[in-house]
Amino acid sequence: MISRFFLEQLKNSCPVEEIVSSYLNLKPLGNNKFVGLCPFHSEKTPSFVVYSATQSFFCFGCQVGGDVVSFIKKMESLDYVGALKFLANKSGIGFPEDEIGGFNFGTRILSANKEAARFFHGVLKETDFAMNYLKKERKVCQRTVVKFGLGFAPKSWDSLGKHLFSKGFSLEELLAAKLLTKAQNGSIYDIFRNRIIFPIINSRAEVLGFGGRVLDESRPKYLNSYDSLVFKKSNNLFNINLAKKSKQIILVEGYFDAISIVQAGFGNVVATLGTALTINQAKLISVYAEEVILAYDSDEAGVAATYKAMNILNGVGLATKVLDLSNFKDPDEYIKNRGDIRFKMALANSVDAIDFKLNNFKVQFDINTSAGKVAFLKAAAALLAQLNNRLTRDVYLGKISSEMGIDKQILMSHVNNLIKIHIKKRKSIEQKNIARNFVGNKRPRSAGNTTCLVKSEELIIRSLYGNNSLFEILKSNCPFELFVSENKDIYEVLMYNIEHQLPVEMPCITGLNSDLLAVLSRILAKNFDFQLDFNGILECVKTLKKAKQQLNAAGVSKMAAEELKGYIEDLAKQKRC
Ligand code: CTP
Ligand code: MN
Repeated sequence: MISRFFLEQLKNSCPVEEIVSSYLNLKPLGNNKFVGLCPFHSEKTPSFVVYSATQSFFCFGCQVGGDVVSFIKKMESLDYVGALKFLANKSGIGFPEDEIGGFNFGTRILSANKEAARFFHGVLKETDFAMNYLKKERKVCQRTVVKFGLGFAPKSWDSLGKHLFSKGFSLEELLAAKLLTKAQNGSIYDIFRNRIIFPIINSRAEVLGFGGRVLDESRPKYLNSYDSLVFKKSNNLFNINLAKKSKQIILVEGYFDAISIVQAGFGNVVATLGTALTINQAKLISVYAEEVILAYDSDEAGVAATYKAMNILNGVGLATKVLDLSNFKDPDEYIKNRGDIRFKMALANSVDAIDFKLNNFKVQFDINTSAGKVAFLKAAAALLAQLNNRLTRDVYLGKISSEMGIDKQILMSHVNNLIKIHIKKRKSIEQKNIARNFVGNKRPRSAGNTTCLVKSEELIIRSLYGNNSLFEILKSNCPFELFVSENKDIYEVLMYNIEHQLPVEMPCITGLNSDLLAVLSRILAKNFDFQLDFNGILECVKTLKKAKQQLNAAGVSKMAAEELKGYIEDLAKQKRC
């Protein structure tokens, strides 16, 4: 068993396109693709394609495919572990020998973290002034303390260290867990001291790291665990372990905002960890939820951050709304001052992203002047032109024109003109993409019309790979049984890994043997440019359902495995795609 932590490191330091190009000459093909002469069979025209976006390769000539590890296995005639060692060496990350044989470093760090969380929690219960701070100043009750496993790091340089050494953890492990650190003079000490502790727990109930807040005005106010083998601030969210059950998730900036909201009765809240929202965090939310209510600080910085977060969230397919905190600084202050019920009302009143943007345009441009009004209308028209839904667009056209006292038809024709320009631009980009398409994608077509069973399976897998936001819709619409070919195993693994926050991208993906990895690489290669949206996916699911009915009618359930395989291959041939 190789730990996923090591594989994650390997992924970051050995991009497939770089490793391959140290063996052969790769030419860019555009759109994250590179092509070269296949090293595994002899050819004159290059058909060996490397995809940086999916970290896979595939030869359209000899059909060999895989990830960076399979490439090295074949190139250097090594076994799996041999290839890993080779790559670790080549990239200088080093191969920890204890990766082999059950004892693995990442797991030890997670155990140390869990033991540290227990220690901090125990100390808090015995430290009256820290408990008083939480109860009196922060209005956090006992139940909430337990629910989050909150803790207190004592004002001491070595209590945590002593405790963890006594539990059998080594200095090397505790330094790597970023629980202890070494000063320049060589002395070792606890990183978290004299702080309220918030354990950061992932959806598999593993403690990844900690946040810590001082009880007074000293600085820095917050300290977060440094990135480690098991923790990356920018990939994780506070309280995702509780919030993951909800379709709608509230996103806040601070630990105490999240805690107050949970205490007010809404478990569906997550907080970023002291950095701006990242795409990976948005993807993590999209695995579980469909909509995000943004509840950032109400100051100028908070509004700017809300805009950025909105774009990132929309980019991964999440709908967004914005909470209005009226004059309060953050959700924590709001709840403390106005109570749970008012907060619930505010949540229900949260405006959709369009209203939020329009309201901000009104602040930005002085609509009492004619020039300001024109500027507002231009900005509003540009916003409406981006909307896909005609009904929504019409509602806002009516609202804005009546508010501004102008003719709806005039505003509408302006918006329509903008839309025409958008469409033209998009078409020319699409044509360029088609022109750049490579072997295997010679006949691109809209996926919605694809009638072929196996093709539908492939399109679902291609779209799901690297796009966790499709998890929800597939989970509720596409049970594993709908897949009939060997693609089923791949689909199951992808869905399982997404659900359990396990790696889903090459070369870290767990649960696929090298044969299936080769199949996955072929699917990604042949369908590289077809990433479907929700509608496309539902179209494919429909095809699978229909095919399933036909198969059932053909008495497939009684067929032996081999017979079934032949039958499916025949089907695939009949419906060429
Ligand atoms: N933060 C941080 N480092 C700091 C300050 C803030 O990492 N020095 C992060 C923390 O995750 C914190 C969030 O930013 O929860 C929001 O910080 P801020 O708005 O400054 O404070 P509040 O959440 O209002 O903190 P509190 O209510 O505890 O005063
Ligand atoms: Mn606050």
